[in-house]
Amino acid sequence: MASPEITPESGETGDGPRAGTASFLVLANRLPVRRVTGVDGTGWETSPGGLVTALAPLLAGRTDAQWLGWSGTTGTDEDGSIEVDGISLVPVPLSRGEVELFYEGFANRTLWPLYHDSIVRSEYHRTWWDAYRTVNRRFAKAAAMWAAPGAAVWVHDYHLQLVPGMLRELRPDLRIGFFLHIPFPPVELFLQLPWRRTITEGLLGADVVGFQTEGGAANFRRLAGLVTEAEVNDHEVTMRGRSVRVETFGIGVDTKTLESMAADPQMQARAKEVRESLGNPERVLLGVDRLDYTKGLARRLRAFRELLEEGRLTVGRHVLVQVAEPTRENVRDYADFRDRIDRMVGEINGDYGEVGAVPMHYLHRHHDLEELVALYLAADVMLVTAVRDGMNLVCKEYVATRTDDSGVLVLSEFAGAAETMVDALLVNPYDIDGLKLAIEQAVTMGPDAQARRMSALREAVVASDVHRWADAWLDALGVAR
Ligand code: ADP
Ligand code: G6P
Repeated sequence: MASPEITPESGETGDGPRAGTASFLVLANRLPVRRVTGVDGTGWETSPGGLVTALAPLLAGRTDAQWLGWSGTTGTDEDGSIEVDGISLVPVPLSRGEVELFYEGFANRTLWPLYHDSIVRSEYHRTWWDAYRTVNRRFAKAAAMWAAPGAAVWVHDYHLQLVPGMLRELRPDLRIGFFLHIPFPPVELFLQLPWRRTITEGLLGADVVGFQTEGGAANFRRLAGLVTEAEVNDHEVTMRGRSVRVETFGIGVDTKTLESMAADPQMQARAKEVRESLGNPERVLLGVDRLDYTKGLARRLRAFRELLEEGRLTVGRHVLVQVAEPTRENVRDYADFRDRIDRMVGEINGDYGEVGAVPMHYLHRHHDLEELVALYLAADVMLVTAVRDGMNLVCKEYVATRTDDSGVLVLSEFAGAAETMVDALLVNPYDIDGLKLAIEQAVTMGPDAQARRMSALREAVVASDVHRWADAWLDALGVAR
């Protein structure tokens, strides 16, 4: 797509933004790919997380669309747009200081913990807030510059909550949507934020604000009524004469693609090899997560360890495979969490392993989707024990691949997915005894009970697949499918 006449930098220096040519813009902190430097120079690899998993396939090949976001480095990015994997990308630069203050600081040490039940304490620093505002303004200006007259702009996630309001001021002609991929917290927690009103008003700059669950949408409506002069109705918040739709849009996975990957004989052979290499145990248990303290991994390992200790699981008959994707490693709470998990894994294998048989395999690296699907097919039991999660796509991916209706999903009540996946073995991850019972029930469940639950789960996952989610958004934004 042709660049508009002015460069991203001129948006920063106070030149009035001018319309570009893209009729559909996606804004997210991360681009779908990030720049990596290896021995062969620099290249691109898929960015981590559920946001990219869901959005990247929807944008591929759309010539009307552009994705604006950070390339994951503080080096120099290309000016203007580049095409990677069929998506037109516009890098929005972050300086080293901004990565520290905006990304690691305000986004991941203030907002992320606050929005996840304050599992760890949020920190409030005015310098982080200043950086958050600066970066949000940069995104708003870049969007204002690239968007064609009357274009639709779809803003994503907690990093960019001020963008809708800033962008509306710059370009009132645009149709703006905002979707939050993570939970929206109860008012009682959100009110801690010194900048609560500015953020709420920032979000209300959109025409449509969407949340993963009804609980999140309800929390936001209540908040809007409390901290602004807005009038709140069922699905609408009206402020200064302008109405904003506030709704639930639960995200899903691409069930068709996952089903066809699972049906591939090579994939099935790979899954068989995985089981063989694990020593053909009776039951393979699996966890797949970013190594985030919200994912309930420590509780999962504690339950697993106690089950071994009590002889309710047996080394050789039961094996746990835990895939943990490195994430946010410069943030202290994440580094501490990684050390803790490393220690727990070492202790489990050290205390209960035998020559030729270990209780668990721990893979601390990124896996591509092919590798994950082979693991999903190899696993009898999937463990998703998040202490809070916006939706959780991993549990939906697992279910989508279980086309023969075998397998058991143990799912935390505190993942957004639990709202619709009620036929899983639902657990409260804070209740270790309850979690242990559920794991025991999962490894002993017979084929009929598995099939009853799994077929109902598959129906639920298919009914809310990512294309439905995207279509609902495209309709809301008036974008052609
Ligand atoms: P989050 O967005 O918090 O990371 P989700 O479960 O919603 O959690 O989405 C995670 C996405 O990342 C899924 O599509 C999953 O397949 C992928 N993923 C999770 N763990 C790994 C891993 N270890 N390696 C590669 N991809 C992973
Ligand atoms: C979650 C968030 C995304 C984020 C992803 C990976 O899925 O909702 O916005 O991109 O985690 O985290 P990172 O900090 O690496 O972008």
